Amino acid sequence: MAVTSAGTPNPATIRREAARRRTFAVISHPDAGKSTLTEALALHARVIGQAGATHGKGGRRATVSDWMKMEQDRGISISSAALQFEYRDTVINLLDTPGHADFSEDTYRVLSAVDCAVMLVDAAKGLEVQTMKLFEVCRHRNIPIITVINKWDRPGLDALALMDEVFERTGLTPTPLTWPVGQSGDFRGVLDRAGGTFTRFTRTDGGATIAGEETLDAAAAEAAEGEAFTNAVEESELLDLEDQNHDQEAFLAGRTTPVMFASAVLNFGVHKLLDTLVDIAPAAEARPDRDGEPRPVDAPFSGFVFKVQAGMDTNHRDRLAYIRVCSGVFERGMVVTHASTGKPFATKYAQQVFGRDREVVDEAFPGDVVGLVNASALRVGDSLYLDKKVVFPEIPTFSPEHFMVIRAKDSSKYKQFRRGIQQLDHEGVVQVLRSDLRGDQAPVVGAVGPMQFEVAEDRMVNEFNAPCTLERLNYSLARRTTPECVSTLARERSVEVLSRSDGELLALFSDRWRLAGVEREHPDLVLEPLVVS
Ligand code: G4P
Repeated sequence: MAVTSAGTPNPATIRREAARRRTFAVISHPDAGKSTLTEALALHARVIGQAGATHGKGGRRATVSDWMKMEQDRGISISSAALQFEYRDTVINLLDTPGHADFSEDTYRVLSAVDCAVMLVDAAKGLEVQTMKLFEVCRHRNIPIITVINKWDRPGLDALALMDEVFERTGLTPTPLTWPVGQSGDFRGVLDRAGGTFTRFTRTDGGATIAGEETLDAAAAEAAEGEAFTNAVEESELLDLEDQNHDQEAFLAGRTTPVMFASAVLNFGVHKLLDTLVDIAPAAEARPDRDGEPRPVDAPFSGFVFKVQAGMDTNHRDRLAYIRVCSGVFERGMVVTHASTGKPFATKYAQQVFGRDREVVDEAFPGDVVGLVNASALRVGDSLYLDKKVVFPEIPTFSPEHFMVIRAKDSSKYKQFRRGIQQLDHEGVVQVLRSDLRGDQAPVVGAVGPMQFEVAEDRMVNEFNAPCTLERLNYSLARRTTPECVSTLARERSVEVLSRSDGELLALFSDRWRLAGVEREHPDLVLEPLVVS
């Protein structure tokens, strides 16, 4: 029991529970195999009987994480949820992230709630654009990164060349834990670099069940695999010479990245990844608050909202706020304080959600994710706490790059329209920008990726019963400005100033040349980039 008979959390229990939590997300470019890996991890942890060797793409069976109709139609993963399972007495929290680049803002928010990231790389493609973007966010937040080279069963790049690429593009020294035996496309298995043993790669039927793993000592491996094994050993020795061996301190400090080789679709390397997460990924630890002061894990309950989501599926037409627990014990029904309003918040309906499945959660510890149902007062970045106040750092809002004017199609539905817009703004589905000139009937919505508009439109129709029209505006750049600059900017051609609901004033420009022109003409204007932090 985490709570003593007097009702006060037991600090030793909380510390022990926090120490056995591993909370991470997978970062990758679309198609690298994230959904496949997620399924395979869940299969290994035995939370799902059979991995969806087929996914929600083009007629294949849907994976657990693909549920929104749009996701299924488009074959992409839009919404994020969390998957929790136990493995080797460790509680693994895998936070799902949307695969499509248009929803990268959601991914950035999820990354604010993890302690570690798995960077999944397609062996044939190396480090792709979206992976690099997400890598930068992880680096900025000092999130340790484990690299998984996926699809080794298919012809791809050379393993050493991939290591060079990781080093050159990320600045992290790759420290492979396993090394492939056989080139990509001729996957025989992996050499465990620390133990010198060989784990043989065995195909299973479509990867739908856990692959049997056979481990051989070096002599037996050499006899069985011949040159492929001796080459792997030689390459591993080259890595030794370069000091590319795992060092826990350097990994946690973000100087190195442990690497392993896998074939997610055939379930190979997945078991090793789970072991690695248990053995070296950081546990849930004290999180710094807004002032940099760490909140110890055994302090009274605290957490922050990293995602708000609604309308996920017709059976659950409600709104969920996902909280990352930072300290103490979360107990369903507890009344906590909402830091930004100072008001009490009752947590009567708390759930763990992954895909379509929801489970009531009664208790959660640091590192865990809890979905609070119908939490309409909560916004992304909000802190909740018990007894001792804490405010966690804000989650930055991104600079929108696409802008549309949104209007209700049917003026008699204006009330629904307004409610819908407000809701989408709260959730951060799109950013809502207003000005006196445009009025409330036709606000501007801004997005990082245009597909966010499709989600917004779909939800306005299906959830809020407020069909709307969207009209593109010719802006592609936003800069933060101040009230003093508004009158000067208003006189400029094709520039518009709008206010966002967080109070920021945004000046919109058609492109960077127009911005440069205005800056040249008015060097005193405040026009700051909206940075990601
Ligand atoms: P994502 O979530 O990162 O976007 O990728 P997803 O898991 O959907 O995988 C993208 C494609 O890559 C899928 O093929 C999937 O089967 C394949 N894949 C994933 N891991 C591996 C692997 O280790 N080896 C190989 N050879 N393929 C892998 P698809 O063409 O979209 O569909 P399918 O018809 O092949 O299933």
